[in-house]
Amino acid sequence: MPDKEHLKRQQILQAAIKKAGLKAMAFNPGPDLSYLSGLDFHLMERPVILVIPGEGTPALILPELENAKVADLPYPVQPYFYNEDPATWSAVFHTALEESRTLAGKIGVIPRRLRMLELDYLRAAAPGLELVSGQELISGMRAIKDAAEAEKMEEAARIAECALAAILSSIKPGITEQDLASRLVGRLLQRGSDPELPFFPIVSFGENSANPHASPSARILKDGDLVLIDWGAAYQGYYSDITRVFAVGDLHPELEKIAQFVKSANATAREAVKPGIPASEVDRAARQVIEDAGYGEFFFHRTGHGLGREAHEEPYISQYDQTVLEPGMTFTIEPGIYLPNRGGVRIEDDILVTEDGCRSLTNQPRDLSQLLPDDHF
Ligand code: CO
Ligand code: CO
Repeated sequence: MPDKEHLKRQQILQAAIKKAGLKAMAFNPGPDLSYLSGLDFHLMERPVILVIPGEGTPALILPELENAKVADLPYPVQPYFYNEDPATWSAVFHTALEESRTLAGKIGVIPRRLRMLELDYLRAAAPGLELVSGQELISGMRAIKDAAEAEKMEEAARIAECALAAILSSIKPGITEQDLASRLVGRLLQRGSDPELPFFPIVSFGENSANPHASPSARILKDGDLVLIDWGAAYQGYYSDITRVFAVGDLHPELEKIAQFVKSANATAREAVKPGIPASEVDRAARQVIEDAGYGEFFFHRTGHGLGREAHEEPYISQYDQTVLEPGMTFTIEPGIYLPNRGGVRIEDDILVTEDGCRSLTNQPRDLSQLLPDDHF
C-alpha cells in the first residue's frame, strides 16, 4: 500500500511541474525528498539529488555506498552513482540531467533547503538551466494530509502525551529545567518516538516562561512557579507539537487569570476552524479574545503553524497568511500571553481540518493544572 503512495505523489507532482511550465524539480535530502520517495538521506558533504522531470523516469544522484537503499524500490527511478573522488561528481550530474532530458529549461528547487553545494553541481552540469523556486508546488501537496498521514500525527501526539504523563511526578521544587527536559526526552524515546525529535523540549519555570523560545536552563523550580512545557514526538516521520502549563503551589492571581484567557483564545480559535476560510481568520479569532481581555500587546507571535514532516510548514496561522483552509490540513493553535519578568502562558494543540470543522489530535487537558509542591500524583 505505501508503495503505490510514493508513485502517486510523484505523478501528482509531475502534473504540477508541467502545469507550472517547469522542466523538472530537484530535491536534496529532507522532508520533501522523503515524502516523494520514502527514502531518507542525511544532509552531508556528499550531495544527493532527486530529479523529478515533468515527464519520464525520475533520476537519483547519490554516492555508491548508498546503493542498498535503491536496490528494491517499488517505483521506477534511475540511479546515478558516484564514487569517492569528488573530481568525478560533476560528470555524474551531467549524465543524470542529460539522460532525464533536463539539461535546459526551468528547474524548480527549494530555496530554504537546497545548498550552495548542490546548486554549484547543478549549474556546472547544465549551464543552460534556470533555477527557480518550486516551493509552492510541493508545499501545497504536503499541506493536505491523507488519512494515513493524519493517523501518524495522531500517534505522535499520543506518544508525546504519554511521555508527559510519565514525568508529571518529577515536577517538584528543586528540579532544574534541564533535568526535567532530559527526563522528558528519555520518556519520549521510551514511549516510541522516532529518535529524531521534532525539536528539543522547551521547559521553562517562573519568569523564564515569559520567553516563548526559552532553552532549558539550570533554573531551579520553586513553590509558586508557573511551569511551561512545549514538547513533541515524531512517529514514522510525522510530528506533534504541544504546549501546556502547570502551577506548582499557588500562582500569582494575574498568572491564573491569563491562563484562563489563553485557554479561551485556544478554544475560540479551534471553534473557528473550518474549510473555506483563510488561515488569517483563525489567527483573528484567537487574537480577539486576548485583545478583549486587555492583553493584546503581550500576544506577539502568530497563532500557529502548519505541522507534519516539519515542525513548521505551510499554512501559517497568521494575519499575513490568506491560505484557504481545506480538509486534511494540519496545524497548531497556540495563543499565548507573556508578561515580562513574571511569566507566560501558551496552550498549543495540533488540529486537523475536517469536512465540517476540525478535530484536535491532542487531548491533554487544557486547564492550568495545579501540582502540589509536596506530594502529588
Ligand atoms: Co510548540
Ligand atoms: Co508550535
